[in-house]
Amino acid sequence: MSRPDLAVEIAGIKLKNPVITASGTFGYGREYAEFIDLNRLGALVTKTITFQPRSGNPVPRICETPSGMLNSIGLQNNGAEAFAANDLPWLAQFDLPVIVSIGGDDIDQYCRVTKFISQVEGVSALEVNISCPNVKFGGLGFGRDPRMAADLVAKIRTCSTLPLIVKLSPNVGDIVAIAQAVVRAGAQAISLINTVLGMAVDIESKRPRLKSVVGGLSGPAIKPIALRMVWEVAKAIDVPVIGIGGIASAADALEFILAGAGAVAVGTAVFMDPQSPIKIIEGIEEYLTKNGYDKISDIVGALEIAE
Ligand SMILES: Cc1cc2nc3c(=O)[nH]c(=O)nc-3n(C[C@H](O)[C@H](O)[C@H](O)COP(=O)(O)O)c2cc1C
Repeated sequence: MSRPDLAVEIAGIKLKNPVITASGTFGYGREYAEFIDLNRLGALVTKTITFQPRSGNPVPRICETPSGMLNSIGLQNNGAEAFAANDLPWLAQFDLPVIVSIGGDDIDQYCRVTKFISQVEGVSALEVNISCPNVKFGGLGFGRDPRMAADLVAKIRTCSTLPLIVKLSPNVGDIVAIAQAVVRAGAQAISLINTVLGMAVDIESKRPRLKSVVGGLSGPAIKPIALRMVWEVAKAIDVPVIGIGGIASAADALEFILAGAGAVAVGTAVFMDPQSPIKIIEGIEEYLTKNGYDKISDIVGALEIAE
């Protein structure tokens, strides 16, 4: 019996399988290359890059919670120029689509980084981060309002011919309205979700565990929220959805795919087990084989809901 076909197409790029690494949890791949074969991944999404370098938020900016973690890293990165000089050439040795996550404080900054990244070799697509809960300006400011989100995406669309993915936040009222607005403005795929706003308190010191008080919750705790949002959005738009949020096993990934995700991204799980994306790819293949499916697309959105 032949092996099932895991290939998917997201925003016009062909991925050998639907398993991607989530922005900010996989760096630029270097730290993980000694643990896993990067060639096996469907794609890699970089940590969000801004035009200028940024040092992120003050520490402590990470804390564990039951079934998850809180982070308030902020958009710490070395800037677009350093990324293009040091990281992209290194990534070019792999047979791996590189999706560059971009961020900024305002439309001009998003456009500057978009134009710069669009001129360098080795970038397969852009993921526009309008969902970071850990920055004062930009980020979630754009991601909460359908009109502002659409204006930003439309502007970015004019700055680049690269495929455009837009990453949305769960910290909004109507996720479907925002997804529809950014698709109308030119998004060719939607990633969701980013982290869920949360906080934790140390009762001995009576201080918040994060210096910034509030941060973003990720990991298994947010999976049901993410799954619900992916399901709602996938039904409402006609471009692929990349499902993200608490995915740690093939079964988790399959839940998202059945709910309508065309691909999935693995985030916090790689901190516990760097092999998890590979195990997830193998587990999806096993599931397809066991259930007699020839290809992954046979099960995208195949959720059966009783009347
Ligand atoms: C430490 C950390 C840093 C992150 N940095 C980014 C980032 O730079 N850009 C971004 O779009 N998302 C970032 N995220 C969000 C993840 O990409 C993902 O959307 C979120 O963590 C939910 O997935 P998970 O539960 O599998 O981690 C970060 C998450 C964590 C835990």
